Amino acid sequence: MSEVQESSYKTDELIAQDIDAYLEKHQHKSMLRFITCGSVDDGKSTLIGRLLYDSKMIFEDQLAALEADSKKVGTQGQNIDFALLVDGLAAEREQGITIDVAYRFFATEKRKFIVADTPGHEQYTRNMITGASTADLAVILIDARKGVLTQTRRHSYLAHLIGIRNIVLAVNKMDLIGYDQAKYEAIVEEYRKFADSIGIKSFVPMPISGFMGDNITTKSANTPWYHGVPLIEHLETVELDVAADQAKPFRLPVQWVNRPNLDFRGFSGLIASGVVKPGDAVRVLPSGKTSTVTRIVTLDGDLPQAVAGQSITLCFADEIDCSRGDVITLADAPVQVADQFEATIVWMADEALTPGRAYWLKLGTQTVSASVHAPKYQVNVNTLEHMAAKTLELNAIGVANIATDRAIPFEAYESNRTLGGFILIDKMTNATVAAGMIHFALRRSQNVHWQALDISREVHAGLKNQKPAVLWFTGLSGAGKSTIANLVEKKLVRMNRHTFLLDGDNVRHGLNKDLGFTQADRIENIRRVGEVAKLMTDAGLIVLTAFISPFRSEREMVRQMMQPGEFIEIFIDTKLEEAEKRDVKGLYKKARSGELKNFTGIDSPYEPPEVPEIHIDTSKITPEEAADLIIERLIP
Ligand code: ADX
Repeated sequence: MSEVQESSYKTDELIAQDIDAYLEKHQHKSMLRFITCGSVDDGKSTLIGRLLYDSKMIFEDQLAALEADSKKVGTQGQNIDFALLVDGLAAEREQGITIDVAYRFFATEKRKFIVADTPGHEQYTRNMITGASTADLAVILIDARKGVLTQTRRHSYLAHLIGIRNIVLAVNKMDLIGYDQAKYEAIVEEYRKFADSIGIKSFVPMPISGFMGDNITTKSANTPWYHGVPLIEHLETVELDVAADQAKPFRLPVQWVNRPNLDFRGFSGLIASGVVKPGDAVRVLPSGKTSTVTRIVTLDGDLPQAVAGQSITLCFADEIDCSRGDVITLADAPVQVADQFEATIVWMADEALTPGRAYWLKLGTQTVSASVHAPKYQVNVNTLEHMAAKTLELNAIGVANIATDRAIPFEAYESNRTLGGFILIDKMTNATVAAGMIHFALRRSQNVHWQALDISREVHAGLKNQKPAVLWFTGLSGAGKSTIANLVEKKLVRMNRHTFLLDGDNVRHGLNKDLGFTQADRIENIRRVGEVAKLMTDAGLIVLTAFISPFRSEREMVRQMMQPGEFIEIFIDTKLEEAEKRDVKGLYKKARSGELKNFTGIDSPYEPPEVPEIHIDTSKITPEEAADLIIERLIP
């Protein structure tokens, strides 16, 4: 470490003495983000250390010094500072993924670099995907003594999957094989065969030694047969994704609507691809509304043109609707809009995927509710074979259909990483559970449209002279849900309310007779009941439902489907021992004897509501009293 500090002494001095000059020098350089993949033994840390050392880098702790110094010096420059250097990291932070990826910053005369150092061992998939999601380039390290390993294949597959176009095959530790050209060529050849098989079109091989410094900053005399450039030079000159993105059609995912006063209204965001100019005819998706760009506003004044990678605010000639999550494109080159997709999904959570469950799906600047169907297959990352799978466990990669609760603008991941890549977030824990890449929209979703109806839900409710609601009873089997719901309904009808009671046992004889009691079937049971309840509220009814509905996620999903305040969760709280003692249908006895599987409370979980609107403790009050209490709460 002390060597490193000495070598960067001059940088330190520059920072301390002339912070403005320092920042100015770095501000206009392009930035390459890359990852290094390989196991610890492949010499990854040595290589990174070598890159930092040889390039007279800026260390993270020196960045901290820079911040302190910029405050101390107190020049005008203090406001620009760090965002310029580490801006790209915000995306990961925003996603709230806590992983073990160390980012290092360094710079050479020509470029700035951020290298994500992803640990090679545990949870490699999750870490790699996170580190790689915004990378322009991957350095795949190979130990020259060992050649292409399973891990090399795995990392290459993941790098390709995540859309990294530039791959460097760094055959490391050449010093330990006597700089043997034939051995090097054999490794490159073997890798080429594998790369071909997974669709990696090209890669750049180099013989290096991180330890000795061969072909890192300068060409090594030990490999006169190598005609390529040293690693640093390649990193300094390789085309950045942002440059390639500029050649693609214009896409601006709207981050926020900028409306400081009545005279100004603009749409702000980071341009994902393409170029835009004042005068361009643009289209806003998903609405499809069009207008013309009048101004491109930035902190540095208006621009005559803006390109991928720039943060801008667009002003339009017309007052059209456009909000966060929308995508602005050129009028004649719009993105698709759909609500069902096929996608590759990388599962990153300890708890496996639950097909059918609603997760938050975050794509670009939009967040919607989405559910994943059972996977079509899972990929064995070591052999690349397709395997049958019912779910996806931690680190698993699979292909599945996804349905979102409303149509969203998107692009295939292959053509646009920003508009084709998404993450899934658990609604209960808020943890990021998966990363995904859209392949294409399912055609069936494109041929189904919403029909505009003249008789609205307000008209239906108005005729009945009531406010629709859903009284959602939840609790163990035998808790008394049906009994109490039945009493409540009778009281409501006596008060001339229009109601309908959906009961678990009954619905399972008709609409849901194809469903059993596995987790997936229960989720589907509640999803359908939720949809039916929704239709009934649209018809203006007060709906009562009596289902065990054991999972918080699905109860929450139904709540989200309803208008605010419409969903009233009623927890019928009966201790398991009590429900079992009553055992009206004799089912607990069967469950205890093993004759009946997946029985709630016995060998299938019940997740009690955390904050139900109404909590009924059946050990304290009778069903009749409970019904009165509920009515009182509803109609005070
Ligand atoms: S839920 O879990 O999917 O919400 P639902 O309320 O529809 O369940 O159905 C529960 C009713 O089905 C119970 O009251 C009971 O009569 C019957 N039943 C049959 N098998 C089971 C089981 N394995 N677990 C719970 N209830 C069961």
